[in-house]
Amino acid sequence: MKKTITLLLLIGSILSCTKESTPLSVTSPNGSNSINFHLSEDGSPYYFVNHNNKIVIDSSSMGFDFKDQNALKSNLNIINSTAKTVNETWEMPWGEQKEVVNHYNELVVELEEAVAPNRKLNIYFRAYNDGIGFRYEFMQQHGIDSIIILDENTEFQLTEDYTSWWIPGDWDIYEHLYNTTKISEIDAISKRNNADLKQTYIPENAVNTPVTMRGEDGLHLSFHEANLTDYAGMTLKVDNESLLLTSELVGSGRSGYKVKRELPFKTPWRTVQIADKASELIESKLIVNLNEPNKLGDVSWFEPKKYVGIWWEMHLGKSTWDYAGSQDMGTFTEDVKPTGKHGATTENTKRYIDFASENNIKGVLVEGWNTGWEHWVGFEDREGVFDFITPYPDYDLEGLNKYAKEKGVEIIMHHETSAAPRTYEQQLDTAYQLMNKLGIHSVKTGYVGKIIPKGEYHHGQWMVNHYRKVLETAAKYNVAINAHEPIKATGLRRTYPNAISREGLRGQEFNAWSADGGNPAEHLPIVAFTRMLAGPIDFTPGVFDIELPTKENNRVSTTIAQQLALYVVIYSPVQMASDLPENYENQPALQFIRDVGVDWDQTKVLNGEVGDYVTIARKERKTGNWFIGGITDENAREITIGFDFLDDGTDYEAIIYKDAEDAHYKNNPTAIAIENINIDKGSTLTVPMAEGGGFAISLIKKNN
Ligand code: NOJ
Ligand code: CA
Repeated sequence: MKKTITLLLLIGSILSCTKESTPLSVTSPNGSNSINFHLSEDGSPYYFVNHNNKIVIDSSSMGFDFKDQNALKSNLNIINSTAKTVNETWEMPWGEQKEVVNHYNELVVELEEAVAPNRKLNIYFRAYNDGIGFRYEFMQQHGIDSIIILDENTEFQLTEDYTSWWIPGDWDIYEHLYNTTKISEIDAISKRNNADLKQTYIPENAVNTPVTMRGEDGLHLSFHEANLTDYAGMTLKVDNESLLLTSELVGSGRSGYKVKRELPFKTPWRTVQIADKASELIESKLIVNLNEPNKLGDVSWFEPKKYVGIWWEMHLGKSTWDYAGSQDMGTFTEDVKPTGKHGATTENTKRYIDFASENNIKGVLVEGWNTGWEHWVGFEDREGVFDFITPYPDYDLEGLNKYAKEKGVEIIMHHETSAAPRTYEQQLDTAYQLMNKLGIHSVKTGYVGKIIPKGEYHHGQWMVNHYRKVLETAAKYNVAINAHEPIKATGLRRTYPNAISREGLRGQEFNAWSADGGNPAEHLPIVAFTRMLAGPIDFTPGVFDIELPTKENNRVSTTIAQQLALYVVIYSPVQMASDLPENYENQPALQFIRDVGVDWDQTKVLNGEVGDYVTIARKERKTGNWFIGGITDENAREITIGFDFLDDGTDYEAIIYKDAEDAHYKNNPTAIAIENINIDKGSTLTVPMAEGGGFAISLIKKNN
């Protein structure tokens, strides 16, 4: 039925006696992507999307259900439409590249109900060379100041049973393993009981975004959203039979609705990245382009950096966040006896600061420095427990800050909120004032556990607003946020560059303790084409002691060479060297971590297939040196690289860190071969990757 509608429209022979409208369309600057919009006979809005003359999203309807109002989905008239072209270039203060071209054609369709109350709705469509986006604008209505949305019903009618890479549409956490199935086989409900997740709520057969898919002819689509502001996060409900995706907003058990907004307002953008090759998905800048320009102005108070931290030792169980043992103490009192296992001591922190300063690493994260950890995991009543000002008695906050500064290193603050955002909000100003006074410019936040108040979810409107409040308040004190258990990235880093990084995926930490033994070898070759399309990832690479000898049932399923490659493959302006300082001792491979950049002028995705492998080259801003990282799944392969992206007439010293001949992620993960050669623009190089392996290359300009 739907196909028939589209066909009719394509032929363009619309019966003039019906209310059905002639399609309006907008095409990308290079002509490859177009969006077509029309009203059906009963005035329902429909759109479809073409890529190179092929329908990639067939006729799909749009509409909203409200509380105390009729649904808005039919009886509409087009009262006006306007078009414009924008072609601008903007600069990222830090990023995968310096300059971003934002070139699109836009169509705005103004709709009005033909019947009372004659509500008005505008839809903005933008066609880019790398995909499309659209958003709704609810206009001021006579006699109504605000609306309550029970659900948004935006459809995406797929035209093929794509192979897809998905995680369940969990309202509380994105830390799931990716599944690779046909759309017709997506079964999110089966992922409900996850032994490793402290919070999980999967009410529907829905997926979270970005969700990436590939067609038989090699076409790639990735669905997501941009500029998620004062609205609920979107999951996509999957109809396995009709291959229809429908927006399913994250709700609230407290309010009973999805979104409440004053009028007028605009929804987030619904986005589809469209690429003929998987590598183009990673190069796409659609998501950031659909956000507003930088609102913060000069953000040079933050500098991209590598960091180490008192972190992995807790995940390995060698030390603890808490000082006095997990016990229900109510509030912390100083006469409580320490267990002797506390990680964040003054002495231990100095050890990490010294290591950082000796190894060209500019940040030291300290988790467990503040009071409250005795009452962390497993407690229902977490309100008022964490204190973001008061250090434990064995942690000299001011002295360590001074010590770090003297060594050219900055402490990275840590605020675990234990998913009690109201407690955090009460302390935001004082906590950031303290950081500002100490000259600490970044904080890692965390939201482990079920949200208090009960009934709210991490990805609902209430929490979306909390995460925003944190960003905005932090910006006032020159503080940048690296959020764990965050709301998904939707390109807001363009508007708020202090949104430096976030977790929002199954990170390295799962390798230390997950019940299933850790992330499989295919995990990161999937992440690069799914989660990474949303924005920077704090994955925390750099584990050298791959087999985790103290953890019998857990390990890292990569080689050491792949751990190095991740500094390039995964983008983040804060990049951790996550292993214990002692595990880096006498390791020649550490030289790559010392050398590798964290802030890029250009990025080239040299090759890749979702779930299989990917190779990325990035040019460092400060030095003009290039770094390359390649990773593979559980299969060994060989990659050939051409270097035509290098500067003309320049020789580079290439230091190649690759899997040794007998390397294998399972039984010989630390076997690495390091070699130095000369490389220039005309060179080619073939690099083998072992099973679960990878390679990293530093290309340092020679003085010629
Ligand atoms: C979960 C975070 O992902 C992890 O990195 C952190 O160490 C713990 N929470 C404690 O805050
Ligand atoms: Ca986490």
